[in-house]
Order: sequence, then structure tokens, then C-alpha cells
Amino acid sequence: MSDLSFEGRVALVTGAGGGLGREYGLLLAARGAHVVVNDLGGDVGGHGAGGGAAQRVVEEIRALGGSAVANTGSVASFDGAAAMVAQAVETFGRIDILINNAGILRDKAFHNMSASEIDVVLDVHLRGTFYVTRHAWPHMRAASYGRVVNTSSNSGLIGNFGQSNYGAAKMGIVGLTRVLAKEGARRGIHVNAVAPAARTRMTESVLSPQAAEALEPSRVAPVVAWLAHESCPATGEVISAGAGRVARYFVGLTPGFLSRDLTVEKVRDHWDEARDTGGFIVPDDPAEEMALLMKQWT
Ligand code: NAI
Repeated sequence: MSDLSFEGRVALVTGAGGGLGREYGLLLAARGAHVVVNDLGGDVGGHGAGGGAAQRVVEEIRALGGSAVANTGSVASFDGAAAMVAQAVETFGRIDILINNAGILRDKAFHNMSASEIDVVLDVHLRGTFYVTRHAWPHMRAASYGRVVNTSSNSGLIGNFGQSNYGAAKMGIVGLTRVLAKEGARRGIHVNAVAPAARTRMTESVLSPQAAEALEPSRVAPVVAWLAHESCPATGEVISAGAGRVARYFVGLTPGFLSRDLTVEKVRDHWDEARDTGGFIVPDDPAEEMALLMKQWT
């Protein structure tokens, strides 16, 4: 089979001044895409801005013969998000690919978490993903083509101590991904999410030496590039990517226990049966779940 090309495609990658986003930008550009490298340039906690991170990646891409421009706006601003999409369209004529990757951490046990620590993390991850996608969406609808790759995390999918703000935002992004996949389907727009694991400034302090070696961010980039390619059929999926492993997270539903005259004692007595994961299904939409429920009812 032939190599996958992104020749002529235009990609906006948020938070691409370092870490995973930089790898995505480098790979897409190496395969022929024009890349808008967005990065606000603050620290891992989202403090500060500037620092030239986006411009440095643009220079790296250009030095390798690729095509890129820098954007230093914040995804957490609706107008900033509009400006980065406009820059893609004005500079390169279109926007085919959006990789919502920008992110920060403000970890703290829930009982100590302040309102601002809740808000700023939701703003960058969840609202940021809404905002940039909201501005790219009309262009993709008009072109009847688009590939959106959002960024989730096992911290939300599974839960991780001290990350209630981050985990909630990352699971919120899964809900957004699922809904937009349905809304985009008739217009050729695919929306998926990646749950990455990589050694970056965000994670390096918590990794064992072995994990640090395995979790090279460049081992995540091929998965994101595949999700961004026109030949990838997936939409509405959450793909785990790290250390070169590609796998799928999904929301499953157990067959459960049904009684027409359910009582609290019956719930107690059939608790294990209700939760038994044997024979689970992965419903594609609420109608599929309802059909299963009605089948069990009759
Ligand atoms: P990183 O800190 O190297 O990259 C995040 C980038 O986003 C930074 O360059 C930062 O300047 C930029 N950014 C922050 N706020 C911004 C804003 N308001 N507007 C524009 N840019 C902004 O960390 P990493 O690991 O590369 O993270 C990339 C994404 O992957 C994040 O969404 C993160 O939550 C997610 N993730 C990473 C994991 C890992 O193992 N590294 C695990 C799970 C999720």
C-alpha cells in the first residue's frame, strides 16, 4: 500500500509549540500539509505567555522544507480561536484538519481546589476545544470535508487522584466528540479523540525511567495523523495511543437485570448480575440503547 500523504491539506494544531503538538505538526508538515502552529507559550500550569514556542516549531518545520505559520493566541478565548482559524483560511485558503491539543494542569485534591483552578482548566481544555472547533466547523461544513482530532486523557476516562478539573474537562471532550461525530457525519466531517501517553513537560516528573524511554511523543503522532487522514473511516471514537500501542477506549453497556416490578431489594439482590460485563454492547447511539431496552422489556 502507498504511503499516506497530506499534500495540499491545511492543518491547525493547537498547543503545538512543544510536547505532543510539536510532533503532530512536524509529521503532518513532513507529509505535505500546511500547518498553523498555535501556542500561547505559557508554562505547564498555564501561567504566562510568549516565549516564542510556536515560532520555534515553525522554523523547525521550514528548515525541513515544510510549510507552516505561527499563531500565539489562546484557545480559551472565543475571539482568539476565531483568529487562528481565520489565519489558516487566509494564509492557506482552507482548513481541513483541526487537532485540539492545547492543555494545562492545575492538579490539586478536590477539597483544596479553588474556583479559578476549576475554571482555568475547563477553559483551556473543554471550552478551548469547543471554541476552535466552533470556528472551524462552518468552513468544514461548506467544504463537506473535515478531520477533527480532540485530546482526552485516561485521567478523565478512568479517573486520577488530584485531577478533578482536568479529568472532568477531558471526559467532557469525549461527549463533545461523540455528538460532533454525529452532527458532522453527513458533511464528511469526522471527529475523534486521542487519549495519549507521552513523556512531555506535563508528565516527565511522574514517569519511571522505563516509561520515560517508552513514551516518546513521536510514538503517538502516527495515530493522530491517521485519525486526521482522509482515508481513516473512524468517527466518534476514542483511541488510546502511547509507546507505540494503538487501542480503543469505549463506553460499554452491560445486559443488566430487568424486572417490571423493580424494588430496592431486587436491585440489591441482582446487583452483581446488573453489573456483570459479560455480553456487553457498545451502543452507537441512544436509539440503539433504547431498542435493546425495549427488547428486554418485552
Ligand atoms: P505540553 O505542556 O508539552 O503541551 C501543551 C501545549 O499547550 C503547551 O505548549 C502550551 O503552551 C500550550 N497551551 C496551553 N494553554 C494554551 C492556550 N490557552 N492556548 C494555546 N496553547 C496553549 O504537554 P503535552 O503532554 O504535549 O500535552 C498535549 C495534550 O495532551 C494536552 O491536552 C494534554 O492534556 C494531553 N495529554 C497528555 C498526556 C501525556 O502523557 N503527555 C496524557 C493525556 C493527555
